[in-house]
Amino acid sequence: RRFLQGLGRATLVTLLVSGGTFYYLARRDRSPGAQLPFDPTKKTIVVLGSGWGATSLLKGLDTADYNVIVVSPRNYFLFTPLLPSVAVGTLNPRSILQPTRYLTRFKEREVRVIEAEAKSVDPIKKTITFADDSEIQGLVSSTTIPYDYLVYAVGAETQTFGIPGVKEHALFMKEIHDAERMQRRFLDCIESAAFPGQTDEEKDRLLHIVVVGGGPTGVELSGEVHDWLEEDLRSWYPELAPRIRITLVEALPSVLPMFSKELIQYTESTFRESKIDVLTGTMVKGVTESSVRLKLGKEGDGKGEGREVDVPCGVVVWAAGNTARQISKDLMAQLPDAQTNRRGIAIDDYLRLAGARDAFAIGDCTASSYAPTAQVASQQGAYLARLFKQLAKRDAIEARIAAVQGEGEGGESKVAAVDEEEKKLRKQLDRVKLKPFQYSHQGSLAYIGSDKAIADLPIFGRNWASGGVATYLFWRSAYLSTLFSLRNRTLVASDWLRVKLFGRDTSRE
Ligand code: FAD
Ligand code: NAI
Repeated sequence: RRFLQGLGRATLVTLLVSGGTFYYLARRDRSPGAQLPFDPTKKTIVVLGSGWGATSLLKGLDTADYNVIVVSPRNYFLFTPLLPSVAVGTLNPRSILQPTRYLTRFKEREVRVIEAEAKSVDPIKKTITFADDSEIQGLVSSTTIPYDYLVYAVGAETQTFGIPGVKEHALFMKEIHDAERMQRRFLDCIESAAFPGQTDEEKDRLLHIVVVGGGPTGVELSGEVHDWLEEDLRSWYPELAPRIRITLVEALPSVLPMFSKELIQYTESTFRESKIDVLTGTMVKGVTESSVRLKLGKEGDGKGEGREVDVPCGVVVWAAGNTARQISKDLMAQLPDAQTNRRGIAIDDYLRLAGARDAFAIGDCTASSYAPTAQVASQQGAYLARLFKQLAKRDAIEARIAAVQGEGEGGESKVAAVDEEEKKLRKQLDRVKLKPFQYSHQGSLAYIGSDKAIADLPIFGRNWASGGVATYLFWRSAYLSTLFSLRNRTLVASDWLRVKLFGRDTSRE
């Protein structure tokens, strides 16, 4: 009895302490204090973007050294790895968004966050022009500002290869509104299929969802749609659920080319068991309102290879990779000698934008040897924060040297003292070393549906490949801990609990 009483007391104390800590941390996250104002004697960094690269930079940047202005058409950070979960209603959209001000209001010096789209960068005059394209605008909605340093982190847009009908009829999976649109569109298809008198053929069309691109985005989305079907739609639409079909189309011979061979096979076999049709070696050549045109790869006897067929469907999700944004192409065109890579902005080992002064580029907008991933962008952002610290130190010493040189007039002894001081400062300057960026790969993870995930993890210099339910639990905990704030972690965890208890909501707002 005494043991049970002790256990009860210990549990109560633990609950009180953890509840109190949680409350304290949550309150602290909502109570930003006073900040230093902009300082005209400091250099100004203009950051374009509020995604992985920019947010990671802002997190690490010491604003005591700089004035910082952030310009982005979204006033929030989007946690992209969990976007496919929003598309099927597992997560609420706002659970994976973090307003940029929730971060910048906690910096030592005021950071100006401007919700606007950068329209052009002038790397010679060192200015950027941006405009407020939102629904509501004030009297001023476009302006040009100068920068001392530029951090170019505008990401990339979805590659369509100019394939007819993609822009008009397919849905993308890049932004939060893409995920919301996909959920609404598919629910609309289901409700239309349930309309009295619908022919079987039309029901099959409406209930066919085609995902184009067997990269991680397409694979994760297919897995999530499968879970939605099995865990919810089957219960609420029993008459229609057997007709729902998911097809994943990939032009290359296999899905997930960046994962190890065994995990590719594991994913393909899991998809076969889950009744997700995987068409590899098959290229989508066109999209219409009600179909996709496929150029078939090898089938059965190989006779159909190269044949083009129109496949009826209700929803097409286009996840065929990245391409440079127009603003990046325009910027590259201004620096034709240095910017010759059509994939994106060329940078050097210090992430400096090739051909421009005092400009850096990070993340998906760049063309480098790294894959366009959140992991790379966030490491680059963190690196730049450290680099700016070094640059600030260098600038401060150089300013001291200039001041000392100004003092170097007068008697002989004064000149000698000034020389001595300058020597000391130059030595200090030599010690401020700028190290090149080095990427450290932490592994690749992807969710493939049916409570299974795959992971390629570098452990002691070797690759450790794993797939299944345990990897899925690892996937969940890895992403939960990577989310930027306690608020987002709590919201995502409670969404997972909500879905476990009550399932996904099928109402179509
Ligand atoms: P982004 O995060 O895209 O940010 C770009 C920012 O620039 C945005 O804030 C945008 O609004 C802003 N912007 C755009 N145009 C302008 C303009 N003209 N002026 C100013 N600002 C502008 N990677 C992983 O490593 N792991 C994963 O699990 C993973 N999952 C993913 C899932 C999905 C569905 C997707 C789409 C991507 C995923 N990625 C993942 C890739 C990862 O999201 C990107 O590599 C990462 O977002 C790149 O960061 P970034 O800062 O370069 O660009
Ligand atoms: P991706 O570039 O990785 O894959 C796109 C796929 O679409 C390619 O395999 C390509 O062959 C295929 N494709 C292109 N055009 C096609 C067509 N017309 N018909 C059929 N197939 C076509 O793009 P994705 O998946 O959007 O990923 C972008 C980046 O984000 C990658 O670097 C990826 O690693 C990263 N990412 C990482 C995730 C993770 O680690 N879990 C999740 C999602 C994205």
